[in-house]
Amino acid sequence: MFDYKQPYVLNPSAPADSLEAKRPAFDNGTTVLDPSRYYSREFMEKEWRHLWPRVWLLAGVTSDVPEEGDYTVFDIGAESVITVRQANGSLKSFFNVCPHRGNPIALNERGSVSKFTCAFHAWSFCLDGKLECITDEQTFHPDLVRHRPGLSEVRTDTIGGLIFVNLDGKAPPLADWIGLPKGYIENYEIDKMHVVRHVRTEWRANWKTGLDAFIETYHLAFIHPQTQTVMEDFSQYDLYPNGFQRMIVPLCVKSHRVADQTTVDAGLQFMMQDAGMKPDEFNGTASEVRPAVQRSKRERAKRLGLKHYEKFTDGQLTDSWATGFFPNTQIGMHPEGVFIMRFIPHPTNPELYFYDNMTLFRNVDDPTYFVPAWMGLPKDTDVSGRTRPNIERFAAGVRADLGEVLDQDVDLVEAVQRGVRSRGFRGPLWSEQEMRLRHVHSEIDRYINGEK
Ligand code: FES
Ligand SMILES: [Fe+2]
Repeated sequence: MFDYKQPYVLNPSAPADSLEAKRPAFDNGTTVLDPSRYYSREFMEKEWRHLWPRVWLLAGVTSDVPEEGDYTVFDIGAESVITVRQANGSLKSFFNVCPHRGNPIALNERGSVSKFTCAFHAWSFCLDGKLECITDEQTFHPDLVRHRPGLSEVRTDTIGGLIFVNLDGKAPPLADWIGLPKGYIENYEIDKMHVVRHVRTEWRANWKTGLDAFIETYHLAFIHPQTQTVMEDFSQYDLYPNGFQRMIVPLCVKSHRVADQTTVDAGLQFMMQDAGMKPDEFNGTASEVRPAVQRSKRERAKRLGLKHYEKFTDGQLTDSWATGFFPNTQIGMHPEGVFIMRFIPHPTNPELYFYDNMTLFRNVDDPTYFVPAWMGLPKDTDVSGRTRPNIERFAAGVRADLGEVLDQDVDLVEAVQRGVRSRGFRGPLWSEQEMRLRHVHSEIDRYINGEK
């Protein structure tokens, strides 16, 4: 195999079986893919037939449905799925459609009910999906309703506070399908975090053009030069089975591209503050900030009894473990909270998608514990977990207040979408810093070509 140069191994002394260790290489070949996958209707239709129904899709988080009758709705393409908490504490999911005439059963993005009642003719259904009552049942021929038409169930399962659904019901068990080692997700205790912000913006690009721009840090120095003072752009890239992948992006460091590795400037000072440190009292150099922040967070966690920190490596306390869930989700994982981003295809237009971003935070009731500034939450955000904000929705071309970096990404991704249509573009040439892209696209092709 070609002896490529992996630019960054975060911790060369990490034990081979640890979650931090650099994974062995995975040969996804060097084929240059036809760019029509980014814009053709034919490819989009293949995805609707062969990909989306067959995989496990991240449909929501368990902290959104804590009590019996709490439900949340997940929309993708023509489908809408309700997930509802049962009396016995389990979750069930249903296609959000009434068996009578097809009206959606749940009209809100989430809520709490004792039963579902269809708004069209008021048929009602129990939380477990069974038919409860048909309005004026005596006016139906008994043959039509003898089977007691209930809600149509969707296979669902959870892992570490994340809810997944599988639309065709035939995927392998979720635990086998998730390509990540045991504990990888669970250690973060996402079930104890709450959504504190949820934004969905429409971008004028294919969902894969969007995803591709978020699963490498090769572009940071050029599109987001401001990040160079607080993060390294040589990430450690790792590939897992079933199209899963991750990059570890070191934070609280300057990029290796910055000449001055000594001065602790504003960006690093903010990061120290977030960790409960006093930047004025710090005497070290810029390259000493990351371990100092790790020590400070470790001590703070001990003091506050945050037991789950014991499962994290030092690196996990500062860095972003940006983890790719095949096919369309990336979770930026941090001990304080996680960013869940889903790249949701538009139902009919291959050159539109929804960038759906949920910010989750684990609230700690202590004056020395802050919401990190890098989470980018608006000033008055309620982070207590007591109120679940509704989705803020923005149409294509309208700027959501997601910060400067995201604005740069919108402009970039929409420009690339125009470029990939050019006759002069012959397909992406991916480096080893872009190995995650090749891994995802190869797995997509295995589905499309019937090898999965
Ligand atoms: S469509 Fe639901 S009751 Fe008629
Ligand atoms: Fe970016």
